[in-house]
Amino acid sequence: MEIKILGISGSPRRGATEYCVKEALKAAEEIEGVTTRFITLRGKTIKPCLHCDYCKRHGTFCIQKDDMAELYDHIFWADGYIIGSPVYSMSISGPLQTFFNRWRPIHQVHKGALIDKVGGAITTGGTRHGGQETALLTLLCHYIARGIIVVGGEPGGYLGGSVWSRDRLEAGAREDEVGMETVRGLGRRVAHVTRIVKQGRTTLGLIHDHDR
Ligand SMILES: Cc1cc2nc3c(=O)[nH]c(=O)nc-3n(C[C@H](O)[C@H](O)[C@H](O)COP(=O)(O)O)c2cc1C
Repeated sequence: MEIKILGISGSPRRGATEYCVKEALKAAEEIEGVTTRFITLRGKTIKPCLHCDYCKRHGTFCIQKDDMAELYDHIFWADGYIIGSPVYSMSISGPLQTFFNRWRPIHQVHKGALIDKVGGAITTGGTRHGGQETALLTLLCHYIARGIIVVGGEPGGYLGGSVWSRDRLEAGAREDEVGMETVRGLGRRVAHVTRIVKQGRTTLGLIHDHDR
């Protein structure tokens, strides 16, 4: 059975977060049946949710015309997510927050579309203990809000991947060997749990052939 894992970098640049998400995807590929896909929010135009309720009133996607149309396809494709964010003021990046707010119409268009998908999170901060854990919690709450099953890291990995980049992009992340172990553990854990859930749903008759 194919297990589809989508990695998303929520950084507006190619740096520590993109590197970490890609490393987590490599680790996820160690699990049988896993196929991965990577996307970045860097360079994407994602307009904010206006709370106009157009999606609610019409049961359709957003009135905003931007790169979200293409991103929705990736979101639907995946069985599991590994989403990474740089820590901004002890929380997630602005683009990523905007991206998650634009998930609101998904529920209007395909009720239950995200139920029983699996999600794990990674954050990279320039300072040691600079808010990696608070930002991780924000990310995990976005999953919970959409009915996605949340996983943390392997034992010792707690909330997920947590890296101290020292504000030095990929090179800084690479040097944080302990942090990178939490990233790889998170990748394996998301893939492992996604496989179990997808297999279980199939056995229970909750997934049909055309959904695989
Ligand atoms: C607006 C802004 C706010 C930031 N706030 C924090 C912070 O609260 N804590 C922290 O440790 N690092 C903070 N940083 C540093 C970044 O989180 C850090 O360099 C991160 O690894 C960048 O990831 P990237 O290389 O993928 O862009 C901030 C950076 C910016 C631009």
